[in-house]
Amino acid sequence: KRPAGAPDPKIARKITKVGVIGAGLMASQFALLFVRRLQVPVVITDLDQARVDKGVASIRSEIETLRSKGRISSDEANRLSALVTGTTDRADFADADWVIEAVFEELSVKQEVFADIEKHVGPETILATNTSSLSVERIGEKLEHPERLVGFHFFNPVAVMPLIEVVSAPATDDVALSTAMVTAKALKKNAVITRDTPGFVVNRVLAKVLGEAMRAVDTGTSFVDVDAAMAPLGLPMAPSALLDLVGLTVGAHVLDTHHAAFPDRFYRSDNLHKLAEHGTLLERDKSGKVTGFDKGALK
Ligand code: CAA
Repeated sequence: KRPAGAPDPKIARKITKVGVIGAGLMASQFALLFVRRLQVPVVITDLDQARVDKGVASIRSEIETLRSKGRISSDEANRLSALVTGTTDRADFADADWVIEAVFEELSVKQEVFADIEKHVGPETILATNTSSLSVERIGEKLEHPERLVGFHFFNPVAVMPLIEVVSAPATDDVALSTAMVTAKALKKNAVITRDTPGFVVNRVLAKVLGEAMRAVDTGTSFVDVDAAMAPLGLPMAPSALLDLVGLTVGAHVLDTHHAAFPDRFYRSDNLHKLAEHGTLLERDKSGKVTGFDKGALK
């Protein structure tokens, strides 16, 4: 017999249409994955048309890159591009079976988004959040049906990182959990089910590593030396590159969330917030290749 809370493919909902809330970098990357792997219509929304258009354009440009690399045919590229649409009207989610958000990492923002989404979707629609460190239970607090909410946490860069953390909150029911697991498999990702604890598994570890790297920087070691010190450990990326990849604003938020949950165990860095205002840590050439540290950031 299947243990309680274990996923069961037989009860997973079939996904025939996907709604994506937020048209930023992360959302655009996973929207592409949904359209490519599930071959179903994907509708993305954001606060204004300019952001929506930018998101749709970035997905279509990635589809074109896949075509130019010979990964998909021209016919497939055209078909995928046609399946992606953008709107500012959440009413377009009415017939979506799966709606996933990647909006600003702020609890009240996510709570409001989901409370509003519930007015627009059918009773069977599964809701997913790509939160990286907030409580899924709290995100679902304003939902009439919190049992349909599940965490579905991607990693940067979405196209290449093989993992999805499927977060089972206390209210998450077996249908939502099973749909998430089946969906992760359809996206060709490895899924792990995690408990709804701050940072889940991966960010809890990364917040420790990156937090201590920032503590070293904030107490006088240069970023260059921190990176050099970490190099022999064989991480795929130096702390500075990982922070840059995740985004300094997101990185600072992740550290804040962990510090708030466990003040004596995690470091928060004011300096990282200042760096986030500056924008970036690393300097890149036109092709995006890292050429060194951004001089302004190191001042
Ligand atoms: N965006 C999109 N694609 C990228 C990319 C990026 N930033 N960086 C690399 N790629 C793609 C390349 O285009 C290439 O694809 P193709 O095979 O289609 O050409 C593929 O990845 C491999 O690229 P490289 O040969 O340059 O690979 P690499 O050996 O330098 O590895 C890496 C790149 C996979 C990103 C590797 O450096 C890595 O694993 N880094 C660690 C990333 C990580 O830890 N991510 C988790 C961050 S935490 C997070 O995301 C959670 C959160 O909530 C904040």
